[in-house]
Amino acid sequence: MYRVPRGTSDILPKEQAYWRYIEQEVANICQLYGYERLDAPAFEDTQLFSRSVGEGTDIVEKQMYTFQDRGGNQITLRPEGTAPICRAYLEHGLHSLPQPVKLYYITSIFRYERPQSGRYRQHYQFGYEAIGDDDPALDAEVIDTAWQFFLALGLHLLSLQLNSIGCKKCRPGYLTVLKDYYANYTRDLCSDCKTRLKRNPLRLLDCKKPLCQQIANSAPRSIDYLCQQCDTHFNKLKRYLELLELPFIVNHCLVRGLDYYTRTVFEIQPEAEGAQSTLGGGGRYDDLIEELGGKPTPAIGFASGIERIILNLKRQNIPVPALPRPRVFIANVGDEAKDETVKLASTLRKNGIGVIEAIGSKSLKAQLRQANTLGVHHTVIIGDEEIKAGTVILRDMTTAQQKTILINQLQGLLK
Ligand code: HAM
Repeated sequence: MYRVPRGTSDILPKEQAYWRYIEQEVANICQLYGYERLDAPAFEDTQLFSRSVGEGTDIVEKQMYTFQDRGGNQITLRPEGTAPICRAYLEHGLHSLPQPVKLYYITSIFRYERPQSGRYRQHYQFGYEAIGDDDPALDAEVIDTAWQFFLALGLHLLSLQLNSIGCKKCRPGYLTVLKDYYANYTRDLCSDCKTRLKRNPLRLLDCKKPLCQQIANSAPRSIDYLCQQCDTHFNKLKRYLELLELPFIVNHCLVRGLDYYTRTVFEIQPEAEGAQSTLGGGGRYDDLIEELGGKPTPAIGFASGIERIILNLKRQNIPVPALPRPRVFIANVGDEAKDETVKLASTLRKNGIGVIEAIGSKSLKAQLRQANTLGVHHTVIIGDEEIKAGTVILRDMTTAQQKTILINQLQGLLK
């Protein structure tokens, strides 16, 4: 027996209502904030991701699905959605549009992770990017978009974590202070953090191991080492968030797992589980477009895992609208009645009435049982006598009451 590959899942029909509900809310929120959809391919040149996400990150070092195609090209299945959007922005000359250009996506993401609840090797993300301006009001708007999206879905008890990790001017100074601080604790750090100290010191703050977390809690804070511009930017952002009445918490250990971030970083987490099951995260990446070969172009964005959203909708018992499905079943007895069923089902569907017709040669009792299981509202029953009389029997499935009606009245009644 074949099974789905580890860390992936089938999205069964009974789960689909959640997906359609979220897609609908994504479309609504994007329309409200002026984002347009951009769909990029599932794979790109490996270099696009290694350069943007960063060589020293877990994603690039351990998690990318990379292979050589038959033409000898190094290809990687998309491990995140921001770099492809920036590539498309440059490739299609979107810098010539009024800025910021606002783009969104719902897309599959591939990361070779250790699978666990809410962590998969293929997951889906809703993400959006606002490219072309460094106004902190845009940061506030991007954060507000995420917050309002989760509220619109009905989620509550969320916490908004915020930090500023500076820019290429002030970050090196901060990293020196951070490394000096950690030099006193090298023996206490976990093995991953020992490597981080050398390769990616900012990520030391992000370690989930209790002892490392204790050390991180007392570490120097990036916001105390911001240059004048970054400091002003962060203060303005906080003021805008207050104006928007968004209840943020400044978290000095929030640094995110991708290297392209500058200044603002933020995450939205369920209050109960915290960072282990972050609903979504994002931040500024003011240097990325330039690193990919464009002109200096500041930008900011956010992404959220759809499976994580569904997990939280279920945990919080939030009902989602049921998907529309056929409400009429046609049962039949006899060959002539079967012919009539085939014709009637087609006519009703052409007139916009969803119908499930009895297929096979089950007894009437079995057909009615099937109709019941399908949850239809009405069953139309056709037998030889009805055909002779030009009638059908219409059965209300909730009350089990039946009445005989003329076949040409059926459509009107069902509508
Ligand atoms: P990220 O934090 O790596 O950011 O992923 C965004 C969200 O995707 C996470 O908060 C989480 O909800 C979900 N997610 C990540 N990995 C998994 C997984 N293995 N299984 C299930 N869900 C997962 C980014 O990818 C950035 N591109 C976000 C961004 C957009 N920054 C700026 N613009």
